[in-house]
Amino acid sequence: MRAAGEEQKTALVIGASRGLGLALTEELWSRGWRLIATRRDAAPDLQALADRSAGGIELARIDIANLKDVRALQSSLDGRRLDVLFVNAGISIAKEDTASTADEADFIAMMMTNAFYPMRVMEMLEHLVRPDGVVAFMSSELASIGTNPGVCDLYSASKAALNMLAKCGAQRRSDGSPVTLLVAPGWVRVGTGGAEAHLSVEQSIPFVANVLEASLGTSGLRFVDRFGVSIPW
Ligand SMILES: NC(=O)c1ccc[n+]([C@@H]2O[C@H](COP(=O)([O-])OP(=O)(O)OC[C@H]3O[C@@H](n4cnc5c(N)ncnc54)[C@H](OP(=O)(O)O)[C@@H]3O)[C@@H](O)[C@H]2O)c1
Repeated sequence: MRAAGEEQKTALVIGASRGLGLALTEELWSRGWRLIATRRDAAPDLQALADRSAGGIELARIDIANLKDVRALQSSLDGRRLDVLFVNAGISIAKEDTASTADEADFIAMMMTNAFYPMRVMEMLEHLVRPDGVVAFMSSELASIGTNPGVCDLYSASKAALNMLAKCGAQRRSDGSPVTLLVAPGWVRVGTGGAEAHLSVEQSIPFVANVLEASLGTSGLRFVDRFGVSIPW
């Protein structure tokens, strides 16, 4: 909860219709944050949460694959100030495939949706983030070239590509820019994680929110797990 007199913080969560993005939206709202949460289609669970929030959660629409949508969101947010910009949107398909068995279109879809589009929307919105704020991407433990055990080849490659794009972007930033976080939430029983995953949402997202709050006012680039511990690149 927000302490008395403390200014209300604002987060924009891109890809909040369901799964981890929805849970992060609810978690930050429950801690007293103001939220701008995006969906691309009807999102009944997010709509219900926004209705309950009595104006605390504002909804916006964006398909990150659509440049017109990104531009429209950019202009609708003109003049707003964010403490956190969190790009959560991502997909996981063809989990068992390798380069010789996969449909090329599945690999392209993951590279675009998990790496290129998140970086593009970030670059187009990051000017809204306060210098002491946080820009964050939902990465994955599987993005680590150092520790990936050899699973989900194509998805892992797309998240490693995301990490590289975020690293290049962070290198170009001047001193006094928001910290860039690549957050690995753990293997969670929602959407992309699947039913066999190890963690419940409650075992992941509150810790991710802790990492965001603890990172306000810091700088640089970090690839971290849900406890804020650095993961080898
Ligand atoms: N679950 C895990 O174990 C796990 C582990 C590591 C990393 N992650 C990452 O965490 C993020 C969320 O995953 P999840 O498990 O919560 O999956 P999910 O339930 O399938 O949610 C994916 C979210 O991304 C949105 N999205 C996908 N493509 C989009 C696009 N083109 N434009 C806008 N929004 C888009 C979806 O919106 P729609 O409802 O419109 O489809 C949905 O809100 C992903 O980046 C995933 O790679 C998950």
